[in-house]
Amino acid sequence: MLDGPAGAGKSTVAQEVSRRLDLPFLDTGAIYRAITLVMLRRRIPAEDSPQLQDALRDFSVSFEGGAVMLGDEDVTSAIRTPEIDGAVSSYSALPAVRSALLGIQREQAKNGLVAEGRDMGTVVFPDACLKIFLTASPESRAMRRYEERVLKGEPADYGEILDAVNRRDGLDSGREIAPLRRAPGAILLDTTDLTFDQVVDRVMEYAEGV
Ligand code: DC
Repeated sequence: MLDGPAGAGKSTVAQEVSRRLDLPFLDTGAIYRAITLVMLRRRIPAEDSPQLQDALRDFSVSFEGGAVMLGDEDVTSAIRTPEIDGAVSSYSALPAVRSALLGIQREQAKNGLVAEGRDMGTVVFPDACLKIFLTASPESRAMRRYEERVLKGEPADYGEILDAVNRRDGLDSGREIAPLRRAPGAILLDTTDLTFDQVVDRVMEYAEGV
């Protein structure tokens, strides 16, 4: 299980580790992003309401290959926009949203998996055999996001991205329910000065030692 703040490299690291271990990969942030997309499309505010409960009941997300599917629709790119970045923390702070998504996440774990998110080790999979808390300085995380956007040819402003990273860190760590925390027993891995390959190698060493 890999937890950590936005932009620490959890997703790419977890994908590579799952490939090497031949285990399924679960990107739980994608699930929170997909429900946020539904809420924004239906114009449902981030507070508990009958409409929000209905949307949670209807919510059906799945992973096909590398794609995130909302029913039959491929929403892989639609969930990675600045609009979703800006709204996801508000929806994911709601207890109703977190409890609805708990079952969806646990269902995926029947035959073992590599999962990444914010509360994998603390709440969703507290009995996991390996828990790692991946972190990095806000500046280096913002720089990674900046470079990703530039590579994709999208508009990018480093200062704005850094502000957004700091804002999201505050919201994700400060929320009352399942805040971003290093789980008891989780190994702390600071990736600020490590290359991607070094991080993957470290995680593989820990996995082999289990
Ligand atoms: O990892 P990400 O940036 O795709 O995650 C998007 C948001 O979803 C993140 O800001 C907080 C929320 N999230 C969460 O609350 N719990 C998780 N297990 C995963 C993500």
